[in-house]
Amino acid sequence: MNNVKWLENAVFYEIYPQSFNDTNGDGIGDFQGIIEKLDYIKELGCNAIWMNPCYDSPFLDAGYDVRDYYKAAPRYGTNDDLRRLFDEMHRRDMHILLDLVPGHTSWEHEWFKASCKGERNEYTDRYIWTDNTWEAPEGMNALIGLAERVGACGVNFFSHQPALNYGYYKPKPDKPWQQPMDAPGPKATLEAMKDIMRFWLKLGCDGFRVDMAHSLVKNDEDSKGTIALWQNVREFLDKEFPDAAMVSEWGEPDKSLQGGFHMDFLLHFGPSHYNDLFRCDKPFFGGEGDASEFVAKYLENRKKSGGKGLMCIPSGNHDMYRLAKYIHGDGLRISFAFLLSMPGAPFIYYGDEIGMRYVEGLYSVEGGYERTGSRSPMQWDSSENAGFSNAPADKLYIKLDPSDDRPTAEAAMADSGSLWHEIQRQTAVRMAHPALQSYGDIDFVYCEKDKYPLAYLRTGDNEKILVILNPSAKTVEFPFGGSLGEAVYRYGAMAAQSGGTVTVPAYSAGYYKV
Ligand code: NOJ
Repeated sequence: MNNVKWLENAVFYEIYPQSFNDTNGDGIGDFQGIIEKLDYIKELGCNAIWMNPCYDSPFLDAGYDVRDYYKAAPRYGTNDDLRRLFDEMHRRDMHILLDLVPGHTSWEHEWFKASCKGERNEYTDRYIWTDNTWEAPEGMNALIGLAERVGACGVNFFSHQPALNYGYYKPKPDKPWQQPMDAPGPKATLEAMKDIMRFWLKLGCDGFRVDMAHSLVKNDEDSKGTIALWQNVREFLDKEFPDAAMVSEWGEPDKSLQGGFHMDFLLHFGPSHYNDLFRCDKPFFGGEGDASEFVAKYLENRKKSGGKGLMCIPSGNHDMYRLAKYIHGDGLRISFAFLLSMPGAPFIYYGDEIGMRYVEGLYSVEGGYERTGSRSPMQWDSSENAGFSNAPADKLYIKLDPSDDRPTAEAAMADSGSLWHEIQRQTAVRMAHPALQSYGDIDFVYCEKDKYPLAYLRTGDNEKILVILNPSAKTVEFPFGGSLGEAVYRYGAMAAQSGGTVTVPAYSAGYYKV
């Protein structure tokens, strides 16, 4: 696997296309809306985008239920419009990851309809079917009662998302419907997925964020089968699209990176302790929490993956509560000082740069359930519908944050002390210092249970930068043998060194040359 050059200094912005910018007045965002905001994204300091699924879909799970992998959802535009988005991004030296959903389709997908037929056909084995209508595949929910054929079809997530068949790592001899990975059905599914990747990479996308990448091969306790499957995909990409970047929603970097992914997300689920930092009763960046278990797990993951490959840490995403639900004021600024100085590419969820809030009490939209409040329309300015859309307010895809003091991009950009400007400063410093970027090394210098600050050394070819973060209300100290030099970035008061001790003011963050 080669290292994708542009990931080295990539800073991502995640766009949930429904809610970003509506230019045709139907209450839902579109590709043209994204194009019109590319300069905004660039000005913030992001040079890459991950866009949630934008394919034709009945949208029972916001597009993670694909009906046609080859067609852009008409509500966002056409394939040509999408190609224009790719071109407009490349013109600005930006890159884009599409969201690949390989684990399941919509129950409206033509493959699934054919797979339900009584008569054997090309798609009979495209999904995981048992041979008994009353028996679901072990460990899965199932769709029953829709098909001519006898059997229950396993589902991956919601009931309308039948699971594609990539085979079983260890098929059970008494369950003949469990096919091995190298059976014709599973092999054809994988080839079909490669064709889909080929199609979009040829059209100009730069790679994929892969949905539920861990889930493809069944009965695969240690993920050995799934790892082998992704290695196979990587071989194909190395041959045909060596610069395609692959980022997994897996949450176990020691496994996904072996599979050939360039980066794996640390997320609100899985063993990473990500929530300790941002989303729990006492998050570290809220000022009274603990980062030590996160750091221990982070180091363990780095070791297990041989220091190769990247882990990426998002500010949030469309599946979790907004960062601003738990962290406020200085804490938000210091959270971003962390996110923008860690190895791996940072991901900023749209609206987090202005501290958009989780909107409480919404009914579920498109399978969002409690996630719906994190998917509300972007708040651009103080005009009608916060500048998101010209549609009547009751036609908006999701209701806007109703509060009078909801943050907007316009106000944030006009205020040099805003979170937006702090992030802009942090991204600029990251861009200027390779030591702070994706592949720079990291050593934790100070991280003690329930204590502050968090301090780590980032090392590039020609420089070393010590990051010191203290989101707590107390002045704190830590021992440091080196000598603290110029601050290339600072928020709050400066840290001071006396002999072997560094004193760190409350609510402060700094990147210091050493
Ligand atoms: C993870 C996606 O991020 C989430 O939004 C979706 O509902 C599930 N996978 C199912 O595809």
